Amino acid sequence: MVDMSGKMSSVTASAPGKCILFGEHAVVYGHPAVAVAIEQRINVKIKCNNSKSEDWKLDGLKFNPKKHPHIEAIRRRLWPAELGAPPLSIEISGQIPTASGLGSSAALSVAATAALRAARGRWFNNKTEDNSTEFWSEGFSSLIEDTDVHSIDQPSKSIRTGDNGRKIRHLSGKNAVDFDECALVAHAVEAIAQGGRASPMDSSTCSHGNVVVISDCIEQEIEWQYTRKLSTPEGEREWQIHTVSAPEDEVYLVIGNTGIHAPTSTQVEKVAKMLEKYPERMNEIETIGIIARRGIKSLLLGDYEAVGRAMSENQLMLQSIGVSSPELERLIQAAIPTSLGAKLTGAGGGGCMVALTRDPKATSEAIELAGGRTIISKFGANGLNLDEGHKALFWKI
Ligand code: MEV
Repeated sequence: MVDMSGKMSSVTASAPGKCILFGEHAVVYGHPAVAVAIEQRINVKIKCNNSKSEDWKLDGLKFNPKKHPHIEAIRRRLWPAELGAPPLSIEISGQIPTASGLGSSAALSVAATAALRAARGRWFNNKTEDNSTEFWSEGFSSLIEDTDVHSIDQPSKSIRTGDNGRKIRHLSGKNAVDFDECALVAHAVEAIAQGGRASPMDSSTCSHGNVVVISDCIEQEIEWQYTRKLSTPEGEREWQIHTVSAPEDEVYLVIGNTGIHAPTSTQVEKVAKMLEKYPERMNEIETIGIIARRGIKSLLLGDYEAVGRAMSENQLMLQSIGVSSPELERLIQAAIPTSLGAKLTGAGGGGCMVALTRDPKATSEAIELAGGRTIISKFGANGLNLDEGHKALFWKI
């Protein structure tokens, strides 16, 4: 495979999965939530597809856009054939089970966005070495008003016009990749795949890593990153995204997988329909928000016992809005005696539960005995990484 510099090359990016400690579902309605990146990752490797065929390949087979809506939506935004982008071969690998609430689709979207951006590079409109967002001639950012990642008029909405769009310097590989852009594109494509309803929880955590707090206001004690906005079928939503370095402690996450696939879109829609029919049940959503806020305070204090208690309380509310399941409850009950707290994580209905524990071996064994498959992760992991292709360039506009 030969890139524009005449070298054989490929680009590989990876992003972590995540589990939600507090606030799933309520976050879709603007309430606070906390997610933690896990050690398990998704890797996306791209190569120029040198055969005469115009088809993209995915894991050796002809790419089917209907089967992979996230990749298709990213391709429309970053690698449009109508602007001359060449067909690619993509290989996807990793240790995050799909449709289980661990952010596999967000990790895939973040890693794919990073790989395509590295391979396409980015034009800048300044002569100096300042790569700040304001000098981008192309790309998506929450700080740039004149681009629109949600537009159906793709791909031109990533290309800035007038003086902003002057192509003066070009950088590819690592220098072109941006955490906010990867999170933003991943959020937009998650929204497309989830019927217009998606919080930025998964996309931001899989991009930035460690601990991400999403809130309806800018929180004082933690590092604010950006504002995310989305027009959902229920109205305009806005979230403030923060990153946190949680105080170090010997605590682990043990994730128990029920093995039951439960697509996020179905669960999110189920909650939306319930709230439409019984608007008074918004109280339960608000209670989840209150518990999450208490959990955030405990986390910042490094009080993991209180974090665990808040997780278990959050589970009672998730049960009440109907997104738990007998299989999840069985694994949660099995984990409780050896952990600080346990709850489902993600959209529920199946998928995974998570326990916060100081004894990962005992908690993992208990969950396995109850029929779950377990994954152990330390508390927090690195975010997006460009693993290969630091100088690659396959195509540019
Ligand atoms: C899915 O991991 C989390 C949900 O809150 C949906 C979302 O935030 O988009 C259920």
